Amino acid sequence: MSLISQIRKDRLPRHVAIIMDGNGRWAKKQGKERVFGHFQGVDSVRKTVKAALQSGVEYITLYAFSTENWNRPQEEVNALMELLVNTILNEVPSMNDQGIRLRFIGDRNSLPGKCKETIIAAEGLTENNSKLTLILALSYSARWEILNAVKKIVDSGVESERITEELFSSALETKDFPDPELLIRTSGELRISNFLLWQIAYAELFFTDKFWPEFDEELFYEAILSFQSRERRFGKTSEQMTHSA
Ligand code: FPP
Repeated sequence: MSLISQIRKDRLPRHVAIIMDGNGRWAKKQGKERVFGHFQGVDSVRKTVKAALQSGVEYITLYAFSTENWNRPQEEVNALMELLVNTILNEVPSMNDQGIRLRFIGDRNSLPGKCKETIIAAEGLTENNSKLTLILALSYSARWEILNAVKKIVDSGVESERITEELFSSALETKDFPDPELLIRTSGELRISNFLLWQIAYAELFFTDKFWPEFDEELFYEAILSFQSRERRFGKTSEQMTHSA
């Protein structure tokens, strides 16, 4: 039986976040430069979007460039920025036709001008789409986001008693999106690497040894099925969950 036909529509994660890792190692294994892995990684992004649309997942967040990635060799940073801009420019018309809304989280002001212009235009063009929201994390780190939220709250002069989880969430980059229920990381690394630290408080984690350029629809469905096989209790007992179901 195909994997997608085993997915239960009534227990889908609404939001899946992905740490796309292993492009460089995958390329080196083929005897190629690291950037070749990033190019190939774009194909995996297309497959992921296709699988999200097929399965009915509403939000996907991809960790495309972290704050720490600025420390890579300048040549690789330039190649990644160029690839991101070109991919967005090439893919946006077809994404728009498919009802995909593009959003970006991260420190926009640290991005090169061309990249910033491209993401603003892509968000504007696709803002009314509602089939799938594809969120790209660019120049993003969770600690940067959390500190930024603290600064906004302090600057607003709100009294400390009025600071709730809801208020804090509304100061984050992700204020318009539900929290991810499933987090996937490729390449065999078992870390979160400063990604969505506040938002993944209750997320299920799925790790695979496959490198990002090897990720495809089937692996996405496998992660969803793994999510659906788990019991999510949010701190309650199994008995309480049976009674409230
Ligand atoms: C991690 O592999 C990957 C990245 C830092 C970049 C991810 C970007 C893409 C796949 C391009 C995506 C394009 C869009 C539009 C989202 P790594 O370089 O850290 O690999 P390594 O761990 O083997 O060194």
